[in-house]
Amino acid sequence: MARVTISTTPDQLRSGIQPSAEEARTYCAQLEAGDILYIPGMPFEIPPADLDFLLGRRQSGGRLHKNIAYRANEDRITGFAEDTPGDAARLLQIMRDYSRNATKTLSAILSPYQQRWNLDFASYRPLEEENRDLTLHKRNDLIHTDAFPSRPTNGDRILRFFTNINPSEPRKWMTTTPFNSLAGQFAGKSGGCPLPTPHGSSAFAKTAFSMKKALASAGIPITPRSPYDDFMMRFHNFLKENSTFQKDCPKQYDDFPPNTCWMVYTDMVGHAVLSGRYALEQTYIVSKEAMVMPEKAPVRILEKMVGAGLVVSS
Ligand code: SIN
Ligand code: FE
Repeated sequence: MARVTISTTPDQLRSGIQPSAEEARTYCAQLEAGDILYIPGMPFEIPPADLDFLLGRRQSGGRLHKNIAYRANEDRITGFAEDTPGDAARLLQIMRDYSRNATKTLSAILSPYQQRWNLDFASYRPLEEENRDLTLHKRNDLIHTDAFPSRPTNGDRILRFFTNINPSEPRKWMTTTPFNSLAGQFAGKSGGCPLPTPHGSSAFAKTAFSMKKALASAGIPITPRSPYDDFMMRFHNFLKENSTFQKDCPKQYDDFPPNTCWMVYTDMVGHAVLSGRYALEQTYIVSKEAMVMPEKAPVRILEKMVGAGLVVSS
């Protein structure tokens, strides 16, 4: 696993120059193998007044207790308490701009994925991550692979685009071996995290899943989850709960300096944030069908281990 620097410079990206089709395919393959794609600068501008606004949130309000989320599909902000009238509207505009710029950048660098992702939440992370007071399963300073309790992916991939907007401090990450090696070690009864039960492809499971999906889209608060999603959620919790793993696993330390961006499949790269505050992030759920190396996807690794399908086709 490595940090790969995009060879198209941030200035070139700003002026619309993008990697060739061949380079873009290589970048997708590197991400899918567990590398972090790194942009050593800003590929788009965040206006200084917007940055000032973002950096001022924490000092002035002090009422933020979690990350601020921008639900791109609904174009609204959650997790933000307004101090001054107009602040919420301003923040919405800034997050909307960030989300669009991140997506434009991603589309340019990862052209094989274009139109094959769903825009998930974006977030603003203004709080210092070091010694953050969070419950064990919510802690981000413990190494984990991502899974969202409320947003199952049915085997699609969690790709995240991060930007460190801290004017002076790096954001410090720690990573470990990717999913195939973690699953080889821990997935299964003897590893400690039992494998999913392969009922995903039965006619009954298919019908139940489609019914749940229909209810969810009709606004009924129900979340259809595949055996894959159940496992990924359990695995996330298992890794955070496993103090021996946290202590002994191979570790690599990565600092992301101010005004840089990086992309990573957080469902496969074991990662933790050790310190840093003021980061922006946009999440994409990339279709499993869009992978250039499908055999490396966590869903395929698990299906191979189980010997059966773990997602439900809709
Ligand atoms: C995480 O996804 O675990 C946190 C990453 C970050 O906030 O830098
Ligand atoms: Fe994470």
